[in-house]
Amino acid sequence: MKDLAMEIEDIVRCAGVMALTAFKKTNGKNYSLKGPHDYLTATDEIIESYVRTEIERRFPGDNVLGEEAGGSAGSGRLWIVDPIDGTANFARCIPHFCVSLAFFEENRVIAGAIYAPATDEMFTAEFGKGARLNGDIMRVSNQHQLSAASIEVGWSKNTVNSEYIALVQRSLDFGCSVRRGGSGALGLAYVAAGRSEAYVELYINAWDVAAGILIVQEAGGYVNDFWHDNDFTNSNCVLATNAALGEEMAELTGITLIS
Ligand code: IPD
Ligand code: CA
Repeated sequence: MKDLAMEIEDIVRCAGVMALTAFKKTNGKNYSLKGPHDYLTATDEIIESYVRTEIERRFPGDNVLGEEAGGSAGSGRLWIVDPIDGTANFARCIPHFCVSLAFFEENRVIAGAIYAPATDEMFTAEFGKGARLNGDIMRVSNQHQLSAASIEVGWSKNTVNSEYIALVQRSLDFGCSVRRGGSGALGLAYVAAGRSEAYVELYINAWDVAAGILIVQEAGGYVNDFWHDNDFTNSNCVLATNAALGEEMAELTGITLIS
């Protein structure tokens, strides 16, 4: 019998391959908008349905919460899935997107995986067992100077423009270079892999960050207490940073870190 981490990896890898196949076929011409800048493709729904079917087949009766079909956290075992994170990229022919899946038990995230099919990169973590990129141990960067820090500031339609602009301004004033890649899950994975020093977003959904938060922590980084009220359906702000810049990033963003 496969262990939990292998099952998760299997599911997100297959889902990612399906998403990449659809990405190549649809060529950026098949999307609708749920609202301003809120993209939906048929692939989001197909992938989520595939992931739900696989979870039900492998772990019957578990609760599932997903971006497209919703769901409730319930009690006990819970899966949180983002079928395509970076949907706006996916829809506009930009291959920066991923599938993200996390497993929670007794109010704690136990394992998570983020798979970026276009680069064939699998970011994984298990609670207390470290984080890996394609099987190799992955650690956050050691960069300790904000003047050399590359950070990502996420944006969605739910962000208040003036607050977003103020945060970007402050980041630049503190000396950081600032990017926005359009996938919160990959933004967190990149902090874990040492490709960015920090990821911050003022309002983000649980499914965007469920796997990434664990992956950053297990790679030696710091995060805020996103799950503070044990309501796994909630949106919140997120800050994930390497350890060396923890204090500075908390001061810059005004967001308290827990680890
Ligand atoms: C979005 C992306 C984006 C982030 C938004 C998310 P989606 O998810 O992660 O980078 O800034 O907050 O909603 O729509 O691509 O699944
Ligand atoms: Ca998402």
